[in-house]
Amino acid sequence: MSERCSCGIGLIGGGVVGGGVVELLLRRKELLARRTGIELELLAVADIDRERVAALGVPENRIVSDYRRLFDNPEIRIVVELIGGVGVAAEAVLASLDAGRRVVTANKALLANRGREIFSRARGNGVGVAFEAAVAGGIPLIASIRDGLIVNRTQSLLGIVNGTCNYILSQMAASGRSFADCLAEAQRLGFAEADPSADIDGLDSGHKLALLSALAFETWVDFPALHIEGIRGIKDDDIRITRDLGYTLKLLAIARPEHPPETVGEDGKGGDEAGGRLFLSVHPALLRNGDPLAGVSGSLNAVRTVGDAVRESMFYGRGAGRYPTASAVVSDIAMTASSLIFGDGYRGWLPPERNAYEPAPMDDYRTRYYLRFAVRDRPGVLGNIATALGSHRVSIAAAHQFENDHPDGFASVCIFSHLAREGDIRASLAEIGGMDFLRDKPVLIRIED
Ligand code: HSE
Repeated sequence: MSERCSCGIGLIGGGVVGGGVVELLLRRKELLARRTGIELELLAVADIDRERVAALGVPENRIVSDYRRLFDNPEIRIVVELIGGVGVAAEAVLASLDAGRRVVTANKALLANRGREIFSRARGNGVGVAFEAAVAGGIPLIASIRDGLIVNRTQSLLGIVNGTCNYILSQMAASGRSFADCLAEAQRLGFAEADPSADIDGLDSGHKLALLSALAFETWVDFPALHIEGIRGIKDDDIRITRDLGYTLKLLAIARPEHPPETVGEDGKGGDEAGGRLFLSVHPALLRNGDPLAGVSGSLNAVRTVGDAVRESMFYGRGAGRYPTASAVVSDIAMTASSLIFGDGYRGWLPPERNAYEPAPMDDYRTRYYLRFAVRDRPGVLGNIATALGSHRVSIAAAHQFENDHPDGFASVCIFSHLAREGDIRASLAEIGGMDFLRDKPVLIRIED
């Protein structure tokens, strides 16, 4: 057997995912060496809790408390950042890049907020940053979009990228229970954090969407300007009503150009131009029950892309968890080591210097809408609602009134619109919001069919 090369790895953060990476690197050393031709040597782990790292089988002399010590060892060529958060993680990643190390990270918040700076530093230092585990955990999504779909211009991307939200919404649909009950259950079972805000308010999905936009649409977003709605306000009434009419509610991350590139045809149509305006949004949305994304339940993730050459692809699997996430991190480590050792010049992914698309305002978003109004049950109410919608060019596809569903003389009126512009829907709701028969703020949920 030919002699194997080796590549030194330094890891920062031996927590849940970091611990999983350590275990896989140690236990699968031989398998990884056989498959890559490289001995992946874990030379140092930085963590303030030395004991938990030692418990994973890392020798004492390879554990350090300060990540800067990793740079003392010139044999460490890849630094794996798994501490999470933005502050210290940003310092550690930037210092690693400045020290000429390749970086592997699972940190979506870091890249969504400071990606421009980090990737520009990587470019300046002639090194790369790999981040497969940052989006949809163990699903090999980044490599698929970046490499497998390299020739495609993406026409649309739709994904369930937060397992916590998907678990809660699936439980609400299955049991008819409220959001608060299902969240409490998710926390009890370990599917939701003690502080679940980043998940249920959509921020985590937003971070992932920002990275997917950079890869699939060559467009970096200004993260604070991204449109993000979470699931905190979702009512069990809406899940029940729409479920009975054939819909499933999901929290979706959506990227869709206003004018998608045309499909490559047999006649050779479809040049390489792509551009115009790009809608990027995280919001709860209704899917038809037959839609494959509607069938993705529990804490699983799935992303559907449409490429102009390949057409639909769907990626499905575990978006979180110690070993699924560690699986993606180790893949990045192996790929980065291969490019270093075999010198093919590949430095990992670097984002475009210029955005392909401009951001599109949500007021110009066009889709179908589900609206629910809790109204006093008296003559003329339905007519007033229909007139307000019509005067703003919103056409009604279906309307349902639920008799006596509120004990206090109010009824629910649910409207399903035809395709409409969001600005027109909002203007209608502002007008209806001032009418005296309305009990609560109207509910608006987009329909993505
Ligand atoms: N908290 C995330 C989720 C996993 O619930 O999917 C990490 O991004």
